[in-house]
Amino acid sequence: MDKNILKAAELIKNSEYLVILTGAGISAESGIPTFRGKEGFWRSYNPMELATPYAFKRDPKLVWEFYSYRQKIIKNAKPNDAHKIIKEWEDKGIVKTVVTQNVDGLHERTGLKNIIRLHGYIWGVKCTKCTYHGVLDEPAEGIPKCPDCGEMLRPDVVWFGESLDPVVINKAFTEFSKADVGLIIGTSAVVYPAAELPFVIMRNGGKIIEINPDRTPVTDISTISIHKSAAEAMREINQKMKARES
Ligand code: OAD
Repeated sequence: MDKNILKAAELIKNSEYLVILTGAGISAESGIPTFRGKEGFWRSYNPMELATPYAFKRDPKLVWEFYSYRQKIIKNAKPNDAHKIIKEWEDKGIVKTVVTQNVDGLHERTGLKNIIRLHGYIWGVKCTKCTYHGVLDEPAEGIPKCPDCGEMLRPDVVWFGESLDPVVINKAFTEFSKADVGLIIGTSAVVYPAAELPFVIMRNGGKIIEINPDRTPVTDISTISIHKSAAEAMREINQKMKARES
């Protein structure tokens, strides 16, 4: 067994206020492509160039096709062991809050309660003209129209160049400022303000555990880096924690 797994299990078990930050990598094993990996490309498009207000203005049909494609994948995807173990830890009172950059809703589908969703929800829609907000039941076909005013709807997600809801981001910073241990799973940690959250823990003298097959800016400030997939690492840590219980 990896020494880092044992150290992570101990740190998590002895933590007083454990918070978790997740990114697209935690859902990779559920079959949802990440944004920055090679598999992130959709047709020949870089998702980074489609998730912008500019792209939507230029070609709303193309942007909706991209979101409909992701909605179809997400509809058939299931939470994996990493999502499930986080929920198990919440039930045991080990994890206090999960902040996610993911819009896929997989954490919520485990029944997780204390979740802060920074970048919106893939099934959410809002009107480009009036104040209408709604939720789609099925993947979008074409450009969905507002039931109130007939104008185009857009996905209710935060795009590049847009601001996060200040209430939501403040809540995330408040939670991270209370943490003595932070577990950072499957994020490239390059998109701000989410990428700032691990540094809040570091500045407060807390400890950071990172789970990511690759190096990221968080690797350098981590007490423990586990270079494995999210589900594999979480299963091993959980197993170690259970072994210590008995
Ligand atoms: P990225 O696609 O940027 O990064 C995914 C990270 O997951 C990478 O560091 C991978 O090494 C890692 N990874 C891949 N497979 C993994 C696995 N099986 N287990 C664990 N880690 C794995 O995704 P995010 O960091 O979430 O924002 O991206 C942040 C934001 O940029 C997203 O929320 C989205 C995107 O544009 C918006 O849409 C606003």
